[in-house]
Amino acid sequence: MSNKQNIVTIDGPAGVGKSTVSRKVAAATGFTYLDTGAMYRGVGLYLQEEKIDLGDRERLIAHLETLKLELFPGKTEDDDVGVLLNGRDVSSIIRTAEMAMVASEVSAIPAVRDILTKMQRNYGEKGKIVAEGRDTGTVVFPDAAYKFFLDAKPEERARRRVDQLRIKGEVAEYEDILAMTIERDKNDRERNIAPLKQASDAVGIDTTEIDVTEVVKQILGLVIK
Ligand code: DC
Repeated sequence: MSNKQNIVTIDGPAGVGKSTVSRKVAAATGFTYLDTGAMYRGVGLYLQEEKIDLGDRERLIAHLETLKLELFPGKTEDDDVGVLLNGRDVSSIIRTAEMAMVASEVSAIPAVRDILTKMQRNYGEKGKIVAEGRDTGTVVFPDAAYKFFLDAKPEERARRRVDQLRIKGEVAEYEDILAMTIERDKNDRERNIAPLKQASDAVGIDTTEIDVTEVVKQILGLVIK
């Protein structure tokens, strides 16, 4: 069992700023940043490329059991976590808006959640982490000492996502991204298993009107290093 003082969880919907905030909290505390969304994106890409029938549970499990999924830190505090799929660097491909939707779809499959939840808990056994995702405070690390839930209006989240994607050179139209944000929220909140929701003991932070620095400050004010 991981030491609950070693775990900070930061959950919330798409585009709320979790990754940026989590990376900064990790850098300030010296904890390791665990991007659980990157894992779902990696598995989504793998299942898509291998053309695996998502309804074929046995084949799916057999594939997942042999899949080698590794995370590696970004070069700087501002870079996304990288992902290796069976040794292949897929860090950029998994960050598209399309792959976000694929990740959301495969994240509703129990076998996928089981395997990734186990991997995430292993990280928690090894050291101090800032875990970011949808269910890190509710399901993966229910005993974590420091839990946060970030939220913001969908319009604001879509606007931030468009900015992020454009910085990466992707063509992104606000109306399309807003529609995807709303659809992803619906998938993530309404699925039967580990849906996106605020843990009863998580501190909620509405980021609609406040910037990253302020969110990080509020979190660091509560976390004992
Ligand atoms: O955080 P992200 O946008 O990279 O996540 C991509 C998708 O992965 C998200 O829409 C739902 C899924 N996900 C999840 O179900 N549980 C997590 N802990 C993290 C991500």
